[in-house]
Amino acid sequence: EQHTPNSIFSRIPGSEIPQHKIKHSAKVTVVGVGNVGMACAQTMLSAGLLNELALVDVLEDRLQGELLDLQHSAAFLPRVKIVADTDYGVSADSDICIVTAGARQREGESRIDLLDRNVNLFKKIIPELVRHSPDTILLIVSNPVDILAYVSWKLSGLPPNRVIGSGTNLDSSRLRSLLADKFEVSALNVHGYIIGEHGDNSVPLWSSLSVANVPVLNFHDKKGVQYNKETLEEFHKAVVKSAYEVIRLKGYTSWAIGFSVASIVKSLLRDQMHVHPVSVLANSFYGIDYDVFLSLPAQLGSAGVLGIANLPITEDEAQRLQNSAKILRGMLDKSKM
Ligand code: NAI
Ligand code: 2OP
Repeated sequence: EQHTPNSIFSRIPGSEIPQHKIKHSAKVTVVGVGNVGMACAQTMLSAGLLNELALVDVLEDRLQGELLDLQHSAAFLPRVKIVADTDYGVSADSDICIVTAGARQREGESRIDLLDRNVNLFKKIIPELVRHSPDTILLIVSNPVDILAYVSWKLSGLPPNRVIGSGTNLDSSRLRSLLADKFEVSALNVHGYIIGEHGDNSVPLWSSLSVANVPVLNFHDKKGVQYNKETLEEFHKAVVKSAYEVIRLKGYTSWAIGFSVASIVKSLLRDQMHVHPVSVLANSFYGIDYDVFLSLPAQLGSAGVLGIANLPITEDEAQRLQNSAKILRGMLDKSKM
């Protein structure tokens, strides 16, 4: 049942049998109330996804300031309880814990440069979260997100269906927005995934990219430009560069990741069974035969990751994915996790 390559979805080995629970009261914790944590909080609140929001950080004043500022929006939102503390007791019984805490890239730094600093923080954060919410789903956002998702899986002892990294849900949206512009169509009608490592070594799946189910490869846009692999690779380069560009211009990225996280949270809390490219335990999928987290098309519901889509990919795409996996596994081995 777990590994039938001719089924659309396969379960991650070691994951729980999903219980589809419709929750009547949803509690989410956000650890880290910086740019990203607050963008996630604001987007989830605006979408009316939460009954309770808990904020945790090490900066007491910042935490209280953000708490008050959010509470002052009460007259414009569905009723929601918002709490904040440096003590993880406030996070108790969360359905989802989102981790955005830690160092971010300065201009010119890569995501990997943050590894050691953020792994050390996670050694404190993850056990606290799981102690107070043993049934939670962990949604990791801090970078390098794939490595920290793996680290969180190890530190938490949770089954793999309940540890997710926000992964290439964001990179895929960046690609879809660029193509939507070229084809003058809603980004919702651009179907396609970037998978693998979030960021620099991500893998675009050109073979399954479509606009309104018309395959993009070899088609022409409104200006008559033909989309072959070479032209599409330029889009991928633009996606990879775009995060660095935003960081150069405004110092950090926040809004798109906020919406990306809220879309994932909605699928989880509301048991949507929607497929997102997110970072999951990839062992046994697409020729990867060791433990590593990277993004694959994952079906999400109230039990977390319900299954991984067995998308037919080309030899070349599989090679790139396995290369992305190798790079990540190499970093994990170096960091001794
Ligand atoms: P920020 O500097 O604005 O906020 C980080 C927050 O973490 C601060 O409030 C800080 O006090 C808090 N913090 C530090 N140590 C902590 C600890 N031990 N416990 C609790 N809180 C702690 O940074 P920003 O811009 O919010 O970025 C946060 C992270 O998100 C970075 O690692 C960044 O690279 C990552 N990121 C990931 C994205 C993705 O697609 N996965 C997208 C954008 C950012
Ligand atoms: C992003 O891609 C920096 O990982 C962050 O926006």
